[in-house]
Amino acid sequence: MKISVSYLSSIFDKKSTINLIDNSSADLIHSDVMDGKFVPKRNFSAEDVIDDLSGITKPIEIHLMTFEPEKYIERLLYLKPKRIIFHLESNANIDSILKMLEENNIEKGIAIKPSTDITYLEDYFERLDFILVMTVEPGAGGQRFMFDMEEKIEDLNDLRYNNNYKYKIGVDGGINEYSALKCKKAGVDELIAGSYICHDENFDEKINNLRKICK
Ligand code: DX5
Ligand code: ZN
Repeated sequence: MKISVSYLSSIFDKKSTINLIDNSSADLIHSDVMDGKFVPKRNFSAEDVIDDLSGITKPIEIHLMTFEPEKYIERLLYLKPKRIIFHLESNANIDSILKMLEENNIEKGIAIKPSTDITYLEDYFERLDFILVMTVEPGAGGQRFMFDMEEKIEDLNDLRYNNNYKYKIGVDGGINEYSALKCKKAGVDELIAGSYICHDENFDEKINNLRKICK
């Protein structure tokens, strides 16, 4: 199980949180970008993300909770992230984004909100590297995991085994020891955790808890 840590909500300031994640045993750092339109809150611009994450050593995963994700992606290419995830529900030109990411050797991820059915991803299953199942309503840290998302994860897992699709399955929102175990059983490959990790003095202890549970 891979563990990606989001610095959206933390007891430390942003810079310290990013450093703590970079020096932890996390597999990736997860950067949440919100535009104040696709989700009610607005936080970082592409330039902020570039400033904040230049020089860090962990692989970078960017989660765009924005409309017009292509505008952000063009600027964020500079960071050479491992993966960019945008929302199916945004007004994206999906084919052109997938092409842009392929040309730049960046893993292609699409996120779906809790109310979005996986059948809407049908045309993209074959090309995607990553599908992000939102297990909370996107837009804020510290919310409760929606247990009815388990079925969605199981369906995505069955689908890839039956069709040889290569996508990995990630979950984002409300991850803790209890929900992590449910996710593991349903077929998840990557947990994205925010407040469970960053609301504690010792990030590695919390990451290890998740690792032990998901063994
Ligand atoms: C929520 C964000 C998440 C968030 C997770 O919309 O996409 O990445 O930081 O935070 P927790 O783990 O606190 O739910
Ligand atoms: Zn996220």
